[in-house]
Amino acid sequence: MSINDCKIINLPRINDPRGNLTFVEGNDHIPFSIARVYYLYDVPGGAERGGHAHRDLQQLIIAMSGSFDIHLDDGVSKKTVHMNRSYMGLYVPTMIWREIDNFSSGAVCMVLASERYSEADYYRDYGEFQSASHVQKANTNSSPTA
Ligand code: TYD
Repeated sequence: MSINDCKIINLPRINDPRGNLTFVEGNDHIPFSIARVYYLYDVPGGAERGGHAHRDLQQLIIAMSGSFDIHLDDGVSKKTVHMNRSYMGLYVPTMIWREIDNFSSGAVCMVLASERYSEADYYRDYGEFQSASHVQKANTNSSPTA
């Protein structure tokens, strides 16, 4: 996977003078079934979250309230995405190292995940992730095209 596979997805918005509504349906607005939802909140100023990659997990990350920065790294290239709209999700496929920081006061980061929690799915060591990512890229590049 490459950071070019990390994409902002504009979710549906039902605008209403009583307040807006956004919804997400698995396998429709996002390319996976939702197996788990978790969220980060009460994040103290200056804190950093993430610092890992996933072998098989895909995610959609949404700033439900406030804002934060997501730093993405595919083992070769890096980019940073600023999240500050509750109708926009960042799709993060497998094998992407992510770090999240610059949380605003009151920020809530909601994550829709394709799998239930499994510690075995994590790379928590950057060097290990980078080696695995290079092997995966080399295998992909040497695979015969059908
Ligand atoms: P972690 O994924 O490292 O959090 P972050 O990416 O936001 O920094 O998870 C922090 C801790 O919470 C870790 O001990 C695993 C636990 N955890 C669960 O038990 N279930 C979950 O669904 C998640 C996301 C984490």
